[in-house]
Amino acid sequence: MCGIFAVSGDSSKAGSSVLKGLKKLEYRGYDSWGVCVREQESGTIFIEKEVGKISTVKRDFPAGREAIGHSRWATHGGVTRTNAHPHKVGRVTLVHNGIFENYLDEKKKLSAYAFASETDTEVIAALIDSFLAQDIEPLQALQRAACCIKGRFAILVMIEGREGIFAARRGSPLIIGRGATQTFIASDVPAFLEQTNVVNYLDDDEMVHVVGNKAHFFHLETGTPIEKRNISVPWKVEDAEKGDWPHFMIKEIFDQKKTIQKAIDHEDRKLQQAAKLLENSNGAYFVACGTAHKVAMAAEYFFADIVGRKINVVPASEMPSFERFVNPKTVIIAVSQSGETADVLEILERGKKKGAKILALTNVVSSSMARLADVHLPINAGPEKAVASTKAATAQMALLFLLAYTEIGQANVGRQILRSTASSINDMLNPRYENYIRSVAERISQQPNLFIIGRKSLYPMALESAIKIQEVSYINAQGFAAGELKHGPIALIEKNTPCLVLGDDPETLSNAIELKSRGASLIGVSPTRHDVFQEWLRVPDCNGAQAIASIIPVQILAYHLALLRGLDPDMPRNLAKSVTVK
Ligand code: M6R
Repeated sequence: MCGIFAVSGDSSKAGSSVLKGLKKLEYRGYDSWGVCVREQESGTIFIEKEVGKISTVKRDFPAGREAIGHSRWATHGGVTRTNAHPHKVGRVTLVHNGIFENYLDEKKKLSAYAFASETDTEVIAALIDSFLAQDIEPLQALQRAACCIKGRFAILVMIEGREGIFAARRGSPLIIGRGATQTFIASDVPAFLEQTNVVNYLDDDEMVHVVGNKAHFFHLETGTPIEKRNISVPWKVEDAEKGDWPHFMIKEIFDQKKTIQKAIDHEDRKLQQAAKLLENSNGAYFVACGTAHKVAMAAEYFFADIVGRKINVVPASEMPSFERFVNPKTVIIAVSQSGETADVLEILERGKKKGAKILALTNVVSSSMARLADVHLPINAGPEKAVASTKAATAQMALLFLLAYTEIGQANVGRQILRSTASSINDMLNPRYENYIRSVAERISQQPNLFIIGRKSLYPMALESAIKIQEVSYINAQGFAAGELKHGPIALIEKNTPCLVLGDDPETLSNAIELKSRGASLIGVSPTRHDVFQEWLRVPDCNGAQAIASIIPVQILAYHLALLRGLDPDMPRNLAKSVTVK
């Protein structure tokens, strides 16, 4: 939710570098953008901002060695140029990712300021400026401002007449990239990966002052200096680029040729720790949002089938109703690509305070969830940039499947099943397969509705299929438990309504026949072809791990539906990759 990026060092092209880096963070928000450069000769603050996507923007900026920038996903205030960041108030220019919950209260107290925008961010800038006006030094001004803020923030600040870029975080990510001649501050590593993979992680309630190529770290509450370790991130530049692929979404779908195998090439020690945590618990909850929640639902079936254990699955936003059951014997299992989703993070933070143990599966290893967890299992899918989650979801499922087998002491059996699944998926994903799915998409792309059914672990995949299709093609797609059809949803079926049938067990086929009798045109997603299917997307037989393979053709279908409807699958309307606000 919003990408922020700063560059400081010995190149006078900091403005262009920020623009370039922001383009790599555009998946975090693409309503509007803005860049601020401290002009080299005069020290004047130059600001350029506009409504629209940053990806196609070409600009020249005044020479300057320090610049900050922002790509916005609007929360407070509409998508207008005035509401776009950076916001300049007095001597302070600032970009922000997060939510300042009590900004209206603080705004009232700052009556000396005439606010131009409707944003919470402008109030942070005013707060800092009000402290500077009292001759308080910048770092202390940041500290004082942070004391007034309830909510989550990552801010980058430039102050007129003061050298360097100041940054602070509480609850929203900030990573410092340490290049040979420049230092970077970003919401995510891809912004500067071309320059360096050496990073310092800023933790909650820490701040940094970057001057030239030097970074000085401090506690946000006490102002005491902190030493930071340099860490190398194992991502390659090409992992975070589209290369020859037309979109990140299709690249990431095809990455699944490798990512399922990578997810299970996992340190055995970590898996054992995670299994122990579960074994010693009395009550476990999967907590996740969106696609990750559907993954958790599939894992609920894996654990029931493999371990004989029922794990509760709750969408993070609904978990508050059940938090009174959380105690020191509870394990909360967070499943998240970004590791930053605000609804999940809040549950983890509160659970931790109650003594619960936290197991987190995330793709971003530096994420807040990873850092909060008692045991963290990285899913190793590599950067996922398309808003629609694809390879992260299948990697999460593979790892959870393996965890279930680890819990019964049969990790090797789990690995073997998953290795064979990974290899079949590798064979399945080829241009011919994609072309066939495109031809199916051509037939149904103008349909207003699409329904998906599945049973057992394919029921959550029916729900996940609906999310994939909705978010990139805007078709009204809905997933159902196959057996639930006749309890209501079947009334929606008309002649030629397209329905995806995930699986080909006898009961699901019987539900498929019920659909067909009402006029539905059926697209089967299964290991075997059946007469009832008008079209058939073959998937391998995966011996209990069927959910992993079955979602992949639907991801491809969703991608082509988006293209055929003239939409950009990487940047669907109203969405952002990482939802760091509640
Ligand atoms: O980063 P997370 O996995 O925690 O994100 C959770 C959801 O926001 C995410 O899965 C969302 O539903 C995707 N856009 C779905 O493709």
